[in-house]
Amino acid sequence: MIRLEQVSKRYQGSAFVLANISVEIAAGEMVFLTGHSGAGKSTLLKLIGLLERPNGGRISIGGLDIREVKPRGIPWLRQRMGFVFQDFQLLDDRNVFENVALPLRILGLDERDVRRRVSAALDAVGLVDKGRVLPRTLSGGEQQRVGIARAVVHRPAILLADEPTGNLDPALSREIFELFRHFNDLGTTLLIASHDLALLREMNQRTLVLEQGRLLHDP
Ligand SMILES: Nc1ncnc2c1ncn2[C@@H]1O[C@H](COP(=O)(O)OP(=O)(O)OP(=O)(O)O)[C@@H](O)[C@H]1O
Ligand SMILES: [Mg+2]
Repeated sequence: MIRLEQVSKRYQGSAFVLANISVEIAAGEMVFLTGHSGAGKSTLLKLIGLLERPNGGRISIGGLDIREVKPRGIPWLRQRMGFVFQDFQLLDDRNVFENVALPLRILGLDERDVRRRVSAALDAVGLVDKGRVLPRTLSGGEQQRVGIARAVVHRPAILLADEPTGNLDPALSREIFELFRHFNDLGTTLLIASHDLALLREMNQRTLVLEQGRLLHDP
């Protein structure tokens, strides 16, 4: 589903942030990505999410080499992915329902489908009765559940999460990880960057370790 071959990345004027990363994540896998601050976790997620371009190597998503995707194919490919952020990135000028509906509005779905899909997504994260409230009135854990509902509402094949529990306490973090497992059980492929070693151990999943831009350990 996601394949990286000898991928490297440097930002303008910087040294290499990622060097010769080769890894393959199969459809339906749930994989964690860990490593110290600055190791390149966010950069790796951005490359896979097509938010940054590699300087070398090959990335393919669902069998498509992203170098061969035409510019107008990029949004299409991006729509096959969902993103979850550490700081939730919810819009505070609209309610929970409209936050979750955003990806569907971009896709131009009609109102009936939007309502049905948003309700299903809010139901999946246990927030079906919170659609009308503003995000800032929710707890951190609830806000992240809204972030996850927004990330899955368009039924992406791949879910990418960058430190999704970085702002949450351990109990809420566990809840969020269990939610990820639920979407994985439904067939979504997940790649989740996290510092939370205790929780990663508890989840007992394949874990990639980055150290200074190199992939250390992939059992
Ligand atoms: N836009 C950018 N321009 C220049 N350098 C960058 C940029 N983004 C990241 N870097 C550098 O790339 C390296 C890796 O950063 P990255 O954010 O991928 O690490 P990380 O593993 O996600 O760290 P953290 O755990 O702190 O989130 C760092 O040295 C960082 O300073
Ligand atoms: Mg990061």
